[in-house]
Amino acid sequence: MSEDTRTVSLKVNGARYTAQIPVRTLLCDFLRHQIGLTGTHVGCEQGVCGACTVLIGGEPVRSCLMLAVQAERRLVETVESLAAGDELSGIQCAMREQHGLQCGFCTPGILMSLTAADRADVTVEQAERDVLGGHVCRCTGYEGIRAAIRQRWSEKAAEL
Ligand code: FES
Ligand code: FES
Repeated sequence: MSEDTRTVSLKVNGARYTAQIPVRTLLCDFLRHQIGLTGTHVGCEQGVCGACTVLIGGEPVRSCLMLAVQAERRLVETVESLAAGDELSGIQCAMREQHGLQCGFCTPGILMSLTAADRADVTVEQAERDVLGGHVCRCTGYEGIRAAIRQRWSEKAAEL
């Protein structure tokens, strides 16, 4: 039996992408394999590790648990959207300065969740507890990531 396909048209990082895909295509696979945005990583494929996190309508979503067709007419943001050319976002700078990554596998997902938390103006405690609670990092022991969160949140406080 042939697989059901459908034409989907997604807006990702401000650009529109249209493709004919099997209806069962996961959003993470669409991003990585159909349109070449390989910054979104895939680890557990069951919603646990957080590596595949992207923003949909500004909210963090596990892209391994969502079909690409479900993201139609929604705004999708991936890690590729964070830097403006060579200029890193605030949370990217903080992660670099505080050595918040080693192998980098978990990093795109963490950056996307922290970007949403940054925009939502949650407290630093919420960012450390709630955001990091949803991500698995096998390398850093989380200390550098927590230091990056504290740096970013204190920079935001200084800007007020
Ligand atoms: S790959 Fe999606 S949560 Fe792990
Ligand atoms: S930096 Fe390697 S898994 Fe987090």
